[in-house]
Amino acid sequence: MELSIIPKPVKINYAEGVFSSKEKPSLIKKEVKIHEDGMIDTSAAQDGYRLIISKDNITAQAPSPAGIHNAEETFRQLLLSNYNDGCLTLPCAEIIDYPRFSWRGFMLDCSRYFYSVSFIKKLLDLLSLHHINRFHWHLTDDQGWRLPVKEYPLLTEIGSRRLDNRFPFPTYTEGFYTEEEIKSVVEYASSRYIEVIPEVDLPGHASAILASYPGLGCSGGPYRVEDRFGIFEDALCAGNDQIFDMIEKIFDTLVNLFPSKWVHIGGDEVLFNRWQNCPKCQKKLKELNLEKINELQSWITYRLAQMLKERGKTAVGWDEVLEDSPKFKLPKDTVIMSWRGSEAGLKAAKLGHKVIMSPNTEGCYLDYKHSPEAEEIGRTLGTASVFDTYSMKAAPENISKEDASNILGGHCTLFSEVIYAGKIAEYMLFPRLCALAEAVWTPENNKDFEDFSKRLIVHRKRLDSLDVNQYRGKLK
Ligand code: ACM
Ligand code: ZN
Repeated sequence: MELSIIPKPVKINYAEGVFSSKEKPSLIKKEVKIHEDGMIDTSAAQDGYRLIISKDNITAQAPSPAGIHNAEETFRQLLLSNYNDGCLTLPCAEIIDYPRFSWRGFMLDCSRYFYSVSFIKKLLDLLSLHHINRFHWHLTDDQGWRLPVKEYPLLTEIGSRRLDNRFPFPTYTEGFYTEEEIKSVVEYASSRYIEVIPEVDLPGHASAILASYPGLGCSGGPYRVEDRFGIFEDALCAGNDQIFDMIEKIFDTLVNLFPSKWVHIGGDEVLFNRWQNCPKCQKKLKELNLEKINELQSWITYRLAQMLKERGKTAVGWDEVLEDSPKFKLPKDTVIMSWRGSEAGLKAAKLGHKVIMSPNTEGCYLDYKHSPEAEEIGRTLGTASVFDTYSMKAAPENISKEDASNILGGHCTLFSEVIYAGKIAEYMLFPRLCALAEAVWTPENNKDFEDFSKRLIVHRKRLDSLDVNQYRGKLK
């Protein structure tokens, strides 16, 4: 009998005999320093654990509470799969386990589809089951603003509501999270050793802001909370200093609600046409002695990173923020999330930035279809098979040691343009999220897709028992 655990542990040493019980056994937990048996002495090792299954009992040892938690989650996997006719049977074994990367993340887009708090908590529970320890909460975008900001009430009064074009008669979709709800999500995550990183996408993807406060756009509007999907020309007006007054209050709000040291400031897909034709933006360009219009974004990013630093936070940005201007170099401590492939991430690592890899070219965009078949749900921008996701490499083999030390880990995203229900989200996520978990946890030379596929058969039953909708088609 073998244990089918996902992500695959670093090492399992099987021993003679079995543990069997008709009850739910309790886990004996011990915090210890473990530096033997290949346990690496890095921050990632703090998440490591040892799970010892003997004939009489089951013991978890770990150097930190997070490690103990990971042992508990591995144990939970076994409880979910190894009961037969009311009897739990496990082979005696010692599991020695620790992650390859300290950052194992997942992003949920709650702007394009407004997920309920209870659904988010269900997902957090599932992230935790797979040792994923970062929840990146995409709270704002063109199609809806989901974060209450006291001093700017219209962001939620106007910005959280839009027309839903799926219906032939006017139907609105709306919602935002209250402060209490946000705190409860952060607490729920934290009790599972998951850090919540909020994202407010600036200065593009700003239709919801502009519909609420049209004076902050170049033309003054009118604007609407977008009911279409795509990339839109209007961004916050770089020549209007009032945008920073608002962002100060947004950041104050985030500091109050999110204990994480990271705040994601977006920065992706900004179009510069409006700035090019705006007298205020042109005036700012001259004042700052900049040449090209896109350098205004570098200036904004620079200021936002500064504003976060003043609040004790570190900025994370999509890889566009790397395209900086000579005058406003991207602050070195800005973390790059590499999404348009991994090249930008590798370049950033070389420049000394910390990097999170989430390349849409390597199966990390879980809104993409599982396979090209017409019947599959998902965006047609590309496909991402379970195998593609499994094969993603946060750090390629030929990278230098120094550059590799700047790669924090890997991340997958669920953008929600084509997602209309939590059940559809689950279908997009599972089992690709399981594959991603293994890609960022398990040592590269321990990864084996055939072996993963076999363990997945058992793992799917666990997901079934947790009422998780799953894609069951071809894996490759
Ligand atoms: C992105 O997918 N626009 C980050
Ligand atoms: Zn402007």
